[in-house]
Amino acid sequence: MSSKEKAWYEDEKLKSLYVKAQSNAFRGYTAPVICPKTTWIGTNSLTDFINHLGAYLADDEKRVLIIVDPALRRMAEKVADKMRSMKQIDSKIFDQVFPEVPRYSIKDGVKVCEEYEPKTIIAIGGGSTMDTAKMIFLLYEQPNINFNTMMAPSFLGLRKKVHLFVAIPTTSGTGSEATFVSVVTDTNRDPPKKTSVVLYELCPDFVVLNPDFVKNMPPWLTMGTGMDALAHSMGTYMIIMSSFYNDMHNQKAIELILKYLPRAVKRGNDMEAREKMQIAAWLATSSIAGIEHGFGQSFGAIFHVHHGICVALFLCASIAYQSKVTNRFYDLAKLFKIKRSGRQKDEILRELLEKLQDFMKSIECPLCIEELKDPAISYDEYMAKMEHLIEYCFNDYCTLSSTRPLNKKSIKKIFEIAYKNKIDDLMELHYK
Ligand SMILES: NC(=O)c1ccc[n+]([C@@H]2O[C@H](COP(=O)([O-])OP(=O)(O)OC[C@H]3O[C@@H](n4cnc5c(N)ncnc54)[C@H](O)[C@@H]3O)[C@@H](O)[C@H]2O)c1
Ligand SMILES: [Fe+2]
Repeated sequence: MSSKEKAWYEDEKLKSLYVKAQSNAFRGYTAPVICPKTTWIGTNSLTDFINHLGAYLADDEKRVLIIVDPALRRMAEKVADKMRSMKQIDSKIFDQVFPEVPRYSIKDGVKVCEEYEPKTIIAIGGGSTMDTAKMIFLLYEQPNINFNTMMAPSFLGLRKKVHLFVAIPTTSGTGSEATFVSVVTDTNRDPPKKTSVVLYELCPDFVVLNPDFVKNMPPWLTMGTGMDALAHSMGTYMIIMSSFYNDMHNQKAIELILKYLPRAVKRGNDMEAREKMQIAAWLATSSIAGIEHGFGQSFGAIFHVHHGICVALFLCASIAYQSKVTNRFYDLAKLFKIKRSGRQKDEILRELLEKLQDFMKSIECPLCIEELKDPAISYDEYMAKMEHLIEYCFNDYCTLSSTRPLNKKSIKKIFEIAYKNKIDDLMELHYK
């Protein structure tokens, strides 16, 4: 494989420079806040947004491409009808979105853009749809870009063809509506690998958080995506790139998830819980996800388990591993209402891991790989893929920012422990 086909963070030299810069001394040195210009929240948010869009676009710019997956086409049709009746906005629906953004699936959407020449793109869907839309937007604007070499602070001058990029999430977890990352499955590799395309300009301009779009999520999807949001908030809390601004948001997100996710899983029509989970997922978006995402993304690309469950499987290990060099889990313990004064560091950590696993059990989230049912993965099957898992995790964007550096040996240990995720084994990551 040539260097052009690999992402920049897979280059040994660039990776080691980046990892060296992630020392505790760098905490607070720089942490840019990239976020959408406007976010409409609540039951009237779609109407408010369309009113604004009508005013924003000149008459000859009222051409919107709506990107959606086939199962949610009905939602796109409703938005299209409402835009036409309220503000005479023309739209076209592109519904060829595939789960987890296989690289080959992007070009058809770019072709539709070339024919229709939209001035606005609206993504309606979960993380797969929002990330597909980011890639279609990027490659329509810059057809010759090698997205593997792009780094977050690059400036490409997007929005020359499409003036507005809008996200309407239908799941509450990925937070892709407020991030500058698109996670693409590189299907040119065997096995396919998840790669992060990072560019500030990929962050949507406008976001609509309307509970009507999430109220029909089935319980397993509510649980899986909610655990993704919990992993974003707790996982990022443990890494150096997390700033005071992120900390504030992540703490609030954790509080909301602990209170409202069980309610949203149990009763999908609990609209207060739905609304609070939308806000939690949107708040839990930071400059970069934690190391559980490096493990979860590698695991998910190989075993095809839902993203949120994948990252949840590695959340306890990621906290335990980094806890050897940072006390930041004390704040997490407080949010789990764990008594801290007069107690040893390891006692607090153990109780935090136990309480986190209790929470996962309460919403029927599998605690370890052995507990997965769809697909069930035998120990032998899992171990047979260990080499790929380690290689992909070592070369994942999200493992770069670990507070405690990761090497192939420590990565292997964490993968081995995750098959059963026993508390005693997880505690070993803290001691050794
Ligand atoms: N860009 C980022 O910052 C970021 C962050 C985390 C995860 N991700 C990515 O997001 C993807 C996962 O996204 P996801 O968890 O939202 O799932 P998804 O978008 O893959 O959707 C999963 C399934 O849920 C269905 N669905 C979505 N909304 C629904 C609704 N309201 N009602 C009923 N069914 C609905 C979809 O049709 C699909 O079949 C992964 O590819 C992951 O890598 C991206
Ligand atoms: Fe995620």
